[in-house]
Amino acid sequence: MHDLMIEAVDVVKAFGDQKALDGVSVAVPRGSVLGLLGHNGAGKTTLVNVLTTLLPPDSGTARVAGLDVVSDAHRVRGLIGLTGQFAAVDEQLSGTDNLVLIARLLGASPREAKARAGELLELFGLTDAAKRAARTYSGGMRRRLDLAASLVGHPDVIFLDEPTTGLDPASRLDLWGIVENLVTDGTSVLLTTQYLDEADRLADSITVLASGRVVASGTSAELKAQVGQRSVTVTLGSADEAARARVALERAGLQPVPDPAKHALTSPVGSSRELAVVVRALDEVGLEADELALGEPTLDDVYLTLSRHAA
Ligand SMILES: Nc1ncnc2c1ncn2[C@@H]1O[C@H](COP(=O)(O)OP(=O)(O)O)[C@@H](O)[C@H]1O
Ligand SMILES: [Mg+2]
Repeated sequence: MHDLMIEAVDVVKAFGDQKALDGVSVAVPRGSVLGLLGHNGAGKTTLVNVLTTLLPPDSGTARVAGLDVVSDAHRVRGLIGLTGQFAAVDEQLSGTDNLVLIARLLGASPREAKARAGELLELFGLTDAAKRAARTYSGGMRRRLDLAASLVGHPDVIFLDEPTTGLDPASRLDLWGIVENLVTDGTSVLLTTQYLDEADRLADSITVLASGRVVASGTSAELKAQVGQRSVTVTLGSADEAARARVALERAGLQPVPDPAKHALTSPVGSSRELAVVVRALDEVGLEADELALGEPTLDDVYLTLSRHAA
């Protein structure tokens, strides 16, 4: 039994003189989900391709369940399920036939293959559409069939490359539920996403990738704490009051950021003592906030701050 089911150490991969991965390390313990977060072009798919044996790294090492993806590529392929933006579902075949074909390729008998296909279609709510060609499926159904296809061989490790990009909100929620069930059953997952809420919801730990480098990693709470400061937002009754409040807060040594549409000002606060400073500063100029709200940093703040640092 290996504790780290997915591991990359200092992986470098260049296309021409452009480094898509510039010394990337990640680790996914058994039964956990790593969220690999990054904008378009950050290097997410390249890392997935290295880890799934599709692309050899220029340097560094990558292992799945302790097996090297280069020297043990064949065994690695037998352990993993891959579903990506361009997965291997045949549009012309029905849901059932797609899954049966994969099961047969993996060595199942016709009977076993049929049984496995039926089981997965049921699990993914596709039983009613089982006999229809995949090209008639909606985006959400198609993505579920993709994921089902990657699970035919009961993989211990799955790679989900932007599994919910382009899905409607209901289909996203369905897919999240399915991933959570897989993890409950002990599957280890590396999931790439551009969505903070997705990483926040599904990932045990998050690695933020920007321009082929890891710019941060930790739990969502750790990342928030790392960049995150709390902030206080005061909402005033009018634009005029908001302008006066801004002057008062600046005079008190704070750095309020105005939101003119809401007559609101947001200012970072290091401690609750500074909250008192805000209230007092407003009081001194005879202003009273309509609303005073203390905000925790969001993963959005983290992401924006970190990507800015990286750029
Ligand atoms: N086969 C390729 N040939 C040339 N450049 C590539 C290739 N694949 C990816 N890239 C480049 O590598 C960088 C990372 O791409 P990618 O891994 O697809 O990012 P992401 O999946 O995070 O959007 C991008 O700048 C992209 O243009
Ligand atoms: Mg990609």
